[in-house]
Order: sequence, then C-alpha cells, then structure tokens
Amino acid sequence: MSEIGGWYYEPPELVHAFRHTHLHPAPLPASRTRSNLACMGKLWEKGYDLDEVIERFTVGRDYLLDRDLLPADAAASIAHVRMLAEAKLLARDDAVALENELRSIAGSALQGEIDIRREDEDCHTVVEARLTDALGEAGKRVHTGRSRNDQVTAATRLFTRESLLDITDEGLTLVVRLLERAEEEQQTVMPGRTHMQIAMLSTFGLWLASWAEQLLDDLELLEAVARMNDRNPLGSAASYGTPLPLDRELTARLLGFESVQNNVLAVQHSRGTLDGRIVSALAGVASTLGRIAQDLILFSLPEIGYVELPSELCSGSSIMPQKKNPDVLELLRARAAVVEGWASQCRDVVRGLPSGYNRDLQDTKEPLLRALAGVQEELAVALVLVDRLEPNRDRMREALNAEVFATDYAYELVREGVPFREAYRRAAEEYTARDLPNPEKALAERTGTGTPGNLNLAAPRERVTSLKELSRSRRDRHVRAMTSLLGEIVPRIIPGSASGRRT
Ligand code: ARG
Repeated sequence: MSEIGGWYYEPPELVHAFRHTHLHPAPLPASRTRSNLACMGKLWEKGYDLDEVIERFTVGRDYLLDRDLLPADAAASIAHVRMLAEAKLLARDDAVALENELRSIAGSALQGEIDIRREDEDCHTVVEARLTDALGEAGKRVHTGRSRNDQVTAATRLFTRESLLDITDEGLTLVVRLLERAEEEQQTVMPGRTHMQIAMLSTFGLWLASWAEQLLDDLELLEAVARMNDRNPLGSAASYGTPLPLDRELTARLLGFESVQNNVLAVQHSRGTLDGRIVSALAGVASTLGRIAQDLILFSLPEIGYVELPSELCSGSSIMPQKKNPDVLELLRARAAVVEGWASQCRDVVRGLPSGYNRDLQDTKEPLLRALAGVQEELAVALVLVDRLEPNRDRMREALNAEVFATDYAYELVREGVPFREAYRRAAEEYTARDLPNPEKALAERTGTGTPGNLNLAAPRERVTSLKELSRSRRDRHVRAMTSLLGEIVPRIIPGSASGRRT
C-alpha cells in the first residue's frame, strides 16, 4: 500500500499543510525542498494571473493527490511520445530525449522527490515543466495530440489497475485463508442463527466458508470493473479526438491496456462513472468485511464466547480497567459506510453532468484514491483477524440446545412418513422433552452440497483459481508494459508501495 497515500491519502509530513494551507502555507520538508526546476506556470498561461482565491478553490487537493499519479503519468507520456515518433509527429531524437527524461522523472517521483505546488495545479504541469526545462523545444512538443483530460484519465487508470491487482491478490489471500480455516473447523458444531435467534445446527466451518464465498462474489465484481478500467483513453484528447493521425492501438499496446476505449466522447463520460463503479465494487468488499466484523463482535461477547480475540488485537479503555474492546471490528464495520459514502460521492458528481469533459470530474479522483487505499488497508487488517481469532469449540458446542434440533426432529418424523405440516406441529410440542441428538451424527446426515455436513470447499477453490488466472494475466501485462516503459525502475507505479523503488 502506498505509504504516501494511505488511508487519508495525505503524505504524513503534509497532514499539517493539508488542514491549514489556507491559513499558513506549510514549509516543505527537507526531502521536498529541491526546487521545481522549472516554474513555467500554467499550461494554459495566456498572460494573466489567476485570482488566488479562485486558484485555491479550483486546484483543491488535486496537487497533493497527483503526487501518487505522477509515475503513472510519466509512463503514459513515454507511450505517447513513442507513438508520436512512430506517427512521424515527433523527431526520433526528441522522442529519445523525452523518454529518458520522463523515466528519470518517474524514478524521482517514486522516491517521493518531486513536489507539486498548488500553483503548478497538477502533475501534468510539473512533468511538462521539467521536460521543457531540461530539453527546451522537445519539452514543448510532448503535449502534441493530447489534453490533460485524456492524460489524467490514462494516469488514473494505470494507477487503478495496479491498485486493483494488489487488492485482488490480497482479497484472494484472505479468501484462501478463510477456506483453510473453514476446512479445519468443518466439524466444529455451533448454533446457526436467523433473526439472531437460535435456528438450526451449523458449524464454524460453514460460517468461515460463507464469508469466503461472499468475498469471491465481491472480487468477481471487482474483476469486472477492473476490465472496464483496462481500456486506453489516450487519443480522446479533450473529449473529441484530434485531427492528427494518432495511433491509439499502439499506445494501448505500449501501456498494456486490454483494449482501446473506442468512442472518444465515451472516454470522458466513463471517467467519473467508472470511478463510481469501481468504488461501489470496493464498497461491496468493505460491506462484507464489515459484516464479518459484526458477527465477530457478537461471537466474542463474553456471554456468547464462541470466539476470542487475542488481547493484542483489542484496545483498552481509559477509565474502565477491565475492558478489552474490539475497536478494530467496530472500525471495520464503520468503514463499510465510509466507503459507500465515497461511492455515492462519485455517483452524485456525475449525475446529470452534460456530455464532454467537465471539471466536476476532478472531484471523483479523491474518493477513488481513498477507497483504493482504504479497502486495501482493511483487507490486511481482516487477514490478521482471520489468522488470529481463536474459536472456543467447547462454548460453541455447549450452546447447542433443544431449539437447535427442533427442525431436525420434525424431519425425523417426516422420514417415518408423517406429512411435514403435521410433523412440524408435533415437533413444536415435543422438541423440548427429547434427548439432544448427537451433533456429529446430525452433521453427517447433512450431505447436500454446501450444507454444514458437506462444505464442498472445492467449489469456492475453483473460483479462486479462475480469479487468480485472470488477475495473473492482467498483472503480467501490466508489469511487462511498465518495465518496457520505465526501464530499470522496479515496475511499480504506486509511490511508496513495497517494491516501487529503484533497485
Ligand atoms: N485536474 C484535472 C482533473 O482531474 C485535470 C484536467 C484539467 N482539464 C481541464 N480542462 N481543466 O480533471
């Protein structure tokens, strides 16, 4: 996960700046004081200065968020430059010089060495300014045949692709772990509940595997949006293409996109819409994790005690010495709502927008980046929980009472030939008077697919394999493309991510 991004998407050293910039411009930390080589001003500079109040408002937090997009933007620019050279719209020498410079910009950006100031507006301006500063004329040619509108979309999609791949991998690790624990707990009998009341015989294994299968649904939806994200927006320019002979298929291949997003106007229409779909799919994962957390809060109540959370996962109270609070579970539960809020922000920003690019779209960037970072963090937390939670098998077994087996009794009578409705009535009157059946025997009777007696873990495991294959081929394509574009830099484009540094 991006250290720079993280949950709040604020570089730790800039948290102060983030909150108080309108009062006191924060001094840059030492690592960021390298002056921006070029201060060429706005890309749209036409001889007047933007009012400061308006600038602060229109740039918003974009100049901070764009730090994370900078390496992806540089990679997309290399592909653009190679394509311009192929199309004879740029001299070979210029293309080579631009490519080398862009690669060094990507490397510095991955190390967190490039600052974007509010007056720069965005990462695109900083990249172009650096190129022009280093290369003069050639730098001024890089923007041929593109607009910041397709540029930001390309960078966001590359960043999102890598991030969704990480999330899918971590999600699948969690699913696999849940299934392993389910296998261990196949015989761990416990009461199953509906309406939170005791219902029928269940197992802790059924519970664990049920959430694994639910997460697989969530990850399959995520795979569908990852595919929608994996289309090349470059060449759509401002929204209507250009009169230049741009080769959109070539930039798609170079950037490892699965396809070209065909209609140039549809590219802009899909920007915030797709962000909303991605964040909604992420909200699905968050919702599942929140529900797992809710069950664990219930299961770990001392009065129930099916599960124990090790102390190192719980927090204490500042006043009540005896407390061991499941704060982590409560915050997982809350985050489901928070992520859904971001999804709704994206959906609401695009609702009713007229066609073509509108600056409103800038405001779907932050919820997207926050959701990607936030859900990835949640998956890491959930893995720790699933690894460490300790089932109290005796407590689960002790909780099996006559109610758990009332329905089983009705079915015993059905087996003897009594019509179900009659058996139901008799069981209702007689179930409390019966001896409790042997739970293991009752479990063994449940042979239907996916029932507590037959979890059929092969089925979810097959789904894991299919998802892994899809994600592996996307990852291979991504890594191949980024390696070919960024060269010796370890091909990670998310700053601060584990291997996103020079070797
Ligand atoms: N920061 C802008 C965004 O995220 C970049 C594109 C600006 N385009 C424009 N036409 N003003 O949308």
